[in-house]
Amino acid sequence: MTRGLRKGLTTYGDEGFALFLRKAFIKAAGYSNDALDRPIVGITNTYSDYNPCHGNTKILLDAVKRGVMLAGALPMEFPTISIHESFAHPTSMFLRNLMAMETEEMIRAQPMDAVVVIGGCDKTLPAQIMAAASADLPTVVVPVGPMVVGHHRGEVLGACTDCRRLWGAHRAGEMDEQEIETVNGRLAPSVGTCMVMGTASTMACITETLGLSLPMSATIPAPHAERVRLAEESGKVAAKMAVTGGPRPSELLTPRSFRNAMVVMQAIGGSTNGIIHLSAIAGRTDHALSLDELDEIGRLVPVLVDLKPSGQHYMEHFHHAGGVPKLLRQLGDLIDLDTPTISGGALRDVVATAEDVPGQTVIRSPAAPIKALGSMVVLRGNLAPGGAILKQAAASPHLLSHTGRAVVFDSVADMAERIDDPALDVAADDVLVLRNAGPKGAPGMPEAGYLPIPKKLARQGVKDMVRISDARMSGTAFGTIVLHITPESAAGGPLALAQTGDLIRLDAEARRLDLLVEEEELSRRRAGLGEQANAVIPERGYARLFVENVLQADEGCDFDFLRRKPGSKP
Ligand code: FES
Repeated sequence: MTRGLRKGLTTYGDEGFALFLRKAFIKAAGYSNDALDRPIVGITNTYSDYNPCHGNTKILLDAVKRGVMLAGALPMEFPTISIHESFAHPTSMFLRNLMAMETEEMIRAQPMDAVVVIGGCDKTLPAQIMAAASADLPTVVVPVGPMVVGHHRGEVLGACTDCRRLWGAHRAGEMDEQEIETVNGRLAPSVGTCMVMGTASTMACITETLGLSLPMSATIPAPHAERVRLAEESGKVAAKMAVTGGPRPSELLTPRSFRNAMVVMQAIGGSTNGIIHLSAIAGRTDHALSLDELDEIGRLVPVLVDLKPSGQHYMEHFHHAGGVPKLLRQLGDLIDLDTPTISGGALRDVVATAEDVPGQTVIRSPAAPIKALGSMVVLRGNLAPGGAILKQAAASPHLLSHTGRAVVFDSVADMAERIDDPALDVAADDVLVLRNAGPKGAPGMPEAGYLPIPKKLARQGVKDMVRISDARMSGTAFGTIVLHITPESAAGGPLALAQTGDLIRLDAEARRLDLLVEEEELSRRRAGLGEQANAVIPERGYARLFVENVLQADEGCDFDFLRRKPGSKP
């Protein structure tokens, strides 16, 4: 098999000349023939001044390179797109597939025998793993790691569960301008990803469970020296994979490893975004993910990790309690320990290294869980025939069975304009409805599902209401919030038919979300909608590609043409 610099030669119709030319150019950078004869490990550089979560990327890059060279291979760094949650307009999800496409194509286009992807901020790991699954080159994932915690007035806090909670307190008039400004400087005290169990942490835990990264890679804090050593070791592992040619992502991403990932997602109180990303990753393989299986797992698997927003602690506490290896041990028979990992062994070997930390209470046992049931439930009903997700672990128990009057917002802009209007006719037991915020409708399915409590109700002390939408929600958010309603309203979903004043019933135990309106009336409304309910197709560019090709949430919001066709080769 062709390896190293001889891989993927540029097409001139003369392979000898193509290699001669390639070597002539790379020698301009000072490489020797000895270096150029080695197996090559590509390393993605997602450093960006716009991405503070990846602020330690340069240190990790140097460490990975050191590991690759210590193991006798040649490291080659290359840039890819970097996406930060707060610096992506209209929303980071709009760009995830672009990053996945770009990363995949650069892995395919450039000569490398293995690749190390360094990422972490919410959309980056999913994009990189989608790319790796499609390119199917031996891949090691190095997450940038979580931030350390902040402190304010004796309270431990962090991004971004506490950003939302304290902003809510400010909106309710409980925190003045000066204090909220002080808090603003304390919520994200270091580089690294949000240190609650948000999407970044969820995806890092899933990545470790899938065997795509080394043990403890999800939890070591971003600024710690231990993470730099992990990066060096990852480089060594990648160099070995460059020589042996495996394991490839297709050997690691199997129905058994996807089930393990869903078990862990439920047990950590994971982000609802995790299921969208895992569906997208599975769509790049031959193994589709089933929402019904996720729900069934949720009835078996309790929440064991005591992290915000479902619990009390933060990622560094999870790390010091033993991290993912310890969690996998606590899960016992619920995890298939024979699934392989990049190290060449199985999860069983990872669990064997799990540390016992006396007195730790962050990683519980199934006998003493944080919540008796899993984090997420899958709802169906006449409002969500293709499914919807509710993070019951972060919901208010008294609202899990609730019937209320709908207060409907037609778009994110409509909600922003009216939600705080003192004249808005809304009460605490109403159901807030947001539509046209799905993959096509917004477009890009923004994290707008965490509809704010209308100011006038917040000032009366209302902390939670049932809120439903076809949008997503940040994994760091909390509340009784139904998300990912599928199909979305802009793709002909029944959410488009809801009107203010209708009754909506949420029954989490029965897994139902229903609009209590007669079918005859719904048919009449459907006939009256016509074309106006469809997504607007942008005139040109990536936005047009996106709206024309993006799939619904149950298929991971990937582009239809990027999913693996059944039986096709990577
Ligand atoms: Fe980057 Fe939260 S903003 S992980």
